[in-house]
Amino acid sequence: MRATRQLLVHSLLLLLWICFFLLAIQTSAAASVADKLEKGQNLTDGETLVSAGGSFTLGFFSPGVSTKRYLGIWFSVCNDTVYWVANRDQPLPDKSGMLVFDGVDSLVLLDGSRRTVWSSNFMAASAPVVQLLESGNLVVRNGSSDTSLSLWQSFDHPSDTLLPGMKLGSNLWTGGEWQLTAWRSADDPSPGDYRRTLETRGLPEIVLWHRDAKKYRTGPWNGLYFNGVPEVFWYADKYPLRVTTSPSEKTYGYTAAPGSFLTRVVVNHTGAAERLVWDVRTGGQWRSYFKGPRDTCDTYARCGPFGLCDAGAASSAFCGCVEGFSPVSAESPSSSQVVKDSAGGCRRDAPLDCAGGKTTDDFKVVPGVKLPDTQNASVDMGVELEDCRRRCFADCSCLAYAAADIRGGGDGTGCVIWKDVILDLRFVARGQNLYLRLSKSEFDDQKRFPTVLVLAPVASAVTILLVVFLIWRRRSRRIIGVIPQNPAMAVPSVSLAIIKGITKNFSENNMIGQGGFSIVYKGQLPEGRTIAVKRLKQSALTTKGKKDFAREVEVMAGLRHSSLVRLLAYCNEGKERILIYEYMKNTSLNVHIFGNANLRASLNWRRRLELIHGIAHGVAYLHGGSGDNVIHRDLKPGNILLDDEWRPKIADFGTAKLFAVDQPGPEQTIVVSPGYAAPEYVRQGRMTLKCDVHSFGVILLETLSGQRNGDTQSLISHAWGLWEQNMIVELLNTAMVPFPESEPELLSELKRCIQIGLLCVQETPCDRPAMSAVVAMLASPTLQIDPPRTAPVIDSEGAVPSNSSDGLETDLLRATTTDLT
Ligand SMILES: *[C@@H]1O[C@H](CO)[C@@H](O)[C@H](O)[C@H]1NC(C)=O
Ligand SMILES: *[C@@H]1O[C@H](CO)[C@@H](O)[C@H](O)[C@H]1NC(C)=O
Ligand SMILES: *[C@@H]1O[C@H](CO)[C@@H](O)[C@H](O)[C@H]1NC(C)=O
Ligand SMILES: *[C@@H]1O[C@H](CO)[C@@H](O)[C@H](O)[C@H]1NC(C)=O
Ligand SMILES: *[C@@H]1O[C@H](CO)[C@@H](O)[C@H](O)[C@H]1NC(C)=O
Repeated sequence: MRATRQLLVHSLLLLLWICFFLLAIQTSAAASVADKLEKGQNLTDGETLVSAGGSFTLGFFSPGVSTKRYLGIWFSVCNDTVYWVANRDQPLPDKSGMLVFDGVDSLVLLDGSRRTVWSSNFMAASAPVVQLLESGNLVVRNGSSDTSLSLWQSFDHPSDTLLPGMKLGSNLWTGGEWQLTAWRSADDPSPGDYRRTLETRGLPEIVLWHRDAKKYRTGPWNGLYFNGVPEVFWYADKYPLRVTTSPSEKTYGYTAAPGSFLTRVVVNHTGAAERLVWDVRTGGQWRSYFKGPRDTCDTYARCGPFGLCDAGAASSAFCGCVEGFSPVSAESPSSSQVVKDSAGGCRRDAPLDCAGGKTTDDFKVVPGVKLPDTQNASVDMGVELEDCRRRCFADCSCLAYAAADIRGGGDGTGCVIWKDVILDLRFVARGQNLYLRLSKSEFDDQKRFPTVLVLAPVASAVTILLVVFLIWRRRSRRIIGVIPQNPAMAVPSVSLAIIKGITKNFSENNMIGQGGFSIVYKGQLPEGRTIAVKRLKQSALTTKGKKDFAREVEVMAGLRHSSLVRLLAYCNEGKERILIYEYMKNTSLNVHIFGNANLRASLNWRRRLELIHGIAHGVAYLHGGSGDNVIHRDLKPGNILLDDEWRPKIADFGTAKLFAVDQPGPEQTIVVSPGYAAPEYVRQGRMTLKCDVHSFGVILLETLSGQRNGDTQSLISHAWGLWEQNMIVELLNTAMVPFPESEPELLSELKRCIQIGLLCVQETPCDRPAMSAVVAMLASPTLQIDPPRTAPVIDSEGAVPSNSSDGLETDLLRATTTDLT
């Protein structure tokens, strides 16, 4: 009995002791997660170094299905995102690897039989320490003081990933080159066939290589961004880019603003370069911010010398020629404006006339392009564009010139001159102007039309063009133009006969919509693409109607953005005024946010937020992103069309207007849509960009609440009421989409979005943010935003009542809002 008791006590003690021991091991293990390794210590497979803030982890891993072991560093949030590998092409066969300092001047990775498989040499130090910093950089220093000089760092030896603080380009001191090299495959980190480098001959630009062939260029650095990557505007506030040209380096790099999400730029083994951001709002996942090459036009030299690629064109017709050039491989002269998907390039139509310092040549602008390869171009940053033109003019071998730096705005400064060939030219959003040297004969009016056609950067227009062109050849050279002679003009005009063919003679079966001034038909192009044909009613053909038509064509010609509907062509024959647009499968925003339960359900909260972001980008582009300041003047959900992927496209530019700052007095009244017009416009007819901001704010609130504002401004009043009671999320209850109570991230994003909407509908125009600021606020959830300033309620006459809102009034407003559903 006693023995049993003793046994029990002993076992208990043993158990306690074991528990204590395990606990001790655990804590010592936790304590051993260090961020550095000193001389005399070692790191074996299974052990890790973790950076001080926990963001990055160094250790051994096996990629994909491989069983081989590599020493690498990964993002702690996602351990299969390895961004640096030490022994890329010297894998370890098993888990016997060990990282250790060897002597005084190298950090080595040893295999099971203690042979060196990888080493980093550095200047000899008696007390070397290797530390994984919170930036992701692995640094060797003498001693563990943070201030001592780094003797070696992993950032100088990039694998396939560029982190904030890293660089691409040339180290002019050492002659070294920083570049990214893709993995060979998902399971094999050894250097693959794709590389990404910063090219520094000509203007700096990033090039993706496949072995020794260029695959994709970002376009030259223009002082602000790489000319072919306008996407950067989405994230440049959080991840600013920097190009450094100094006696010691020519490099590109980027940084991350404090508080922004983790990010990386990676070249994967399929040859795609991508910027990814770890989005914690969506529960943690890598979100793509940019991907290149994006489309066929990004393929290097896709359309050959003097070719011009238009990604929006119908498939098999991406390639055209720059103005004044025709395809080398043209089979018949009639098809001379369309290179059938050939990369054969183009040749000059009329020879230049330049010799002995005398010339009759002139320059034509090719607008909105990614500038051609500048590898063999000469660059002078110190001159104005006008001098550049003179230089090019005076030099018979100069084929084209462009501005090198756009930081000062306007047409830019600096000078790039091309003498051998124009290669890898494409249309791109926010593109630059290329000034092309052409023979005097290209400037005759007779030749004007075909050249306009070539310029046309329009989706599927090439098909129309071909047909039109053939008909043109057959008919007289009668050219109908409502449009001022504008070099940027790029919308082709098509004949009525063609439009009749496409719409089955305006058949009622093809009718898809009807407004006060126009009827919209669906049409089918020969290649199968669907388009929308907007035909002005005869009753609308007043002087004003004609003016609106001309304005719409004029304004649309200068605009290209993924959130604006694209005008493909127009017709102006006799009494016909017709506009041809991309066809939008999902009709317009109003149909879905105010429609029946089924229609509303097609827009979930995420989609609604994306729509709002898209619309904001489109309006911001109108307000200055295109170089001009265009006021739309009639923004409303009915004018926001939705394509088959639910992307918003702002439409109806009949009222739009190029904004001139010195506009004298109140302008002629235009029809405004009640509920969307800004109060100062309704009262005093003052039209500014801030009127569009107001309309955008109303659209935002309507999209999230599913309620119409209406001419009593009921939604705005309701929203202010909720805001004051700190109940603003209640606004979401009327949209008839399930309230996102189980998704706190989404809910806070929606709440923030409503707050931005309220900022946009503030009473005083100068309190309302500019659209560029709205875009920034929507894009970065960490950006501080001001509380909106509550406005007095406005009655339908536009007067401000002395006592803003008592209970009864609010109830009445609520009643009205409910009635509207
Ligand atoms: C690695 O370090 C551990 C203690 O940190 C030591 O016991 C072991 O002997 C070392 N191994 C070698 C091969 O130096
Ligand atoms: C990554 O995490 C998974 C699951 O959490 C684990 O099985 C794997 O061993 C980890 N890999 C590394 C290299 O730590
Ligand atoms: C390295 O640091 C140690 C002390 O931490 C110092 O004695 C030594 O002079 C330093 N320099 C080199 C090159 O080792
Ligand atoms: C490579 O990148 C492209 C573009 O981001 C992506 O679609 C593809 O899935 C990636 N491939 C792998 C194996 O990661
Ligand atoms: C630049 O010149 C070299 C040598 O003449 C030529 O091989 C290369 O294709 C040229 N590059 C471009 C983009 O014109």
